[in-house]
Amino acid sequence: MSTHTDSSPWKALVAHQKSLSGQSISALFSDNPERFDHFSVEAAGLLLDYSKNLVTAETLELLTNLAEEAGLQKAISAMFSGEVINTTENRPALHVALRSPEQNTEFEKIVHSTLDQMESFVNKVTSWQWQGCNGDPITDVVNIGIGGSDLGPAMVYEAMSDYHLDGIRCHFVSNIDPAHLEQTLEELNPATTLFVIASKTFTTLETMLNAQAARAWFLNGNGNEQDLGKHFVAVSANVDKASDFGIDPGNIFPLWDWVGGRFSLWSAIGLPVALGIGMDNFRALLAGANEMDIHFQKTRFETNIPVLLGLLDIWYTCFLQAESKAILPYSQKLELLPAWMQQLSMESLGKSVDSDGSVIDFSGQIIWGSAGTNGQHSFHQLLHQGTHLIHADFIAVAKVETDKQEQHEQLLANCFAQSHILMCGKEDDDPHKKVLGNKPSNTLILKKLYPHSLGSLLATYEHSVFVQSVLLDINAFDQWGVEAGKTANTHIYAAMTSTDSDESFDPSTDALIDYLKKL
Ligand code: F6P
Repeated sequence: MSTHTDSSPWKALVAHQKSLSGQSISALFSDNPERFDHFSVEAAGLLLDYSKNLVTAETLELLTNLAEEAGLQKAISAMFSGEVINTTENRPALHVALRSPEQNTEFEKIVHSTLDQMESFVNKVTSWQWQGCNGDPITDVVNIGIGGSDLGPAMVYEAMSDYHLDGIRCHFVSNIDPAHLEQTLEELNPATTLFVIASKTFTTLETMLNAQAARAWFLNGNGNEQDLGKHFVAVSANVDKASDFGIDPGNIFPLWDWVGGRFSLWSAIGLPVALGIGMDNFRALLAGANEMDIHFQKTRFETNIPVLLGLLDIWYTCFLQAESKAILPYSQKLELLPAWMQQLSMESLGKSVDSDGSVIDFSGQIIWGSAGTNGQHSFHQLLHQGTHLIHADFIAVAKVETDKQEQHEQLLANCFAQSHILMCGKEDDDPHKKVLGNKPSNTLILKKLYPHSLGSLLATYEHSVFVQSVLLDINAFDQWGVEAGKTANTHIYAAMTSTDSDESFDPSTDALIDYLKKL
């Protein structure tokens, strides 16, 4: 059992939670007419309204005590100064260096030289100086990667559609299912397509198989081996493997073991984003994240957005037994945010032992969600009237450039209506129609959705996950469960494809393999 649960701040929170039993969030507003002012904070272009939570000033004070007891400030400094905080892999976790404007440390210097390498490449491609095998400019970029080498860039590219450069489209292929690559390539011309093979390790099965299939597609489409360099570049920490694949070493953009896959968007893994929106906009994304980094590092816990979000998550997970959290962007452009958030949180906090290897009582939350208003016509029913306690983050964009302002205002009204009803409920004599309310939520508002504000938003969530990891005493930067799945796949694939394998797994899996073999 983690020692954190034995600490006095933890015990104080358990007692406090009992004292709040039966309390309604609406009543907390009646008790404190200035609750919104007290429970909202603005920084780095974001407003966080956390007033619709089942918390009082005392709850927040106790959660802050818990953070202090867990050594959160020291942990933040350790991360920013490059200490080896990923202890099971013996590395720092220095994604914050990827967006630092400074060039003091060795880490920062190598980051900036890579940004310059990216800039020169992006400028060549987007100004049509980079020519494909027939002398034509590149019109389509296909990023082949999975997990962190896919979700972040795909999400940001979609979110930044207002900034897409004319004449170049980006596509993202991740799934090992051949249909994903085939469907993507259907309308593309090999002579004007550039593949970015994005893999930190350059060993990930899905990415390697898709990269080989893309190579074959290019060669079958009249390309020849000598032209591969004009159509394939890589982002990887494994230069040898990328070169073995046939990528010109000058076109391998580096990545380092001190950048975790799910935190790698800010590195050259963001190359398809930079190609799609231009390097200046990519740098603006980094600047927004850096502004949030400074806020996170320098602001006291009481008004620190990522700290508050992380503490509230801990409150619901550990003290109110809420296992799941919904991420609800009221912005079609942010449709992929829940998927990015899923990997960020669930791969980081999905652990069952603490840093010493002792079994813990609480891991991270189940993260899910979709773009509003679509979810309102599907799963929101369970949020409103189901018996589960599910807390939610509503994310809205205040201003958009559209000639359909009425529709945009309707979108925002829907967002506010949902969090209002979740909290206040609805009286009705008919029990079927009554909505109990008292369901908590945060609302995050971006004044505008542009590279800078998106960078701030994403860095906020990265840090809120880190805060939770410190309070739960979990290493947020490894993923040994995923590795176990990869090893099992190697054995099962061998058993499935060989005629004389006698390897046995479990009765169900053995039977499934037999069934397939018979088919
Ligand atoms: O899913 C496990 C994982 O290791 C992620 O953490 C990572 O983002 C993804 O695989 C892809 O890894 P790579 O970039 O090495 O191909």
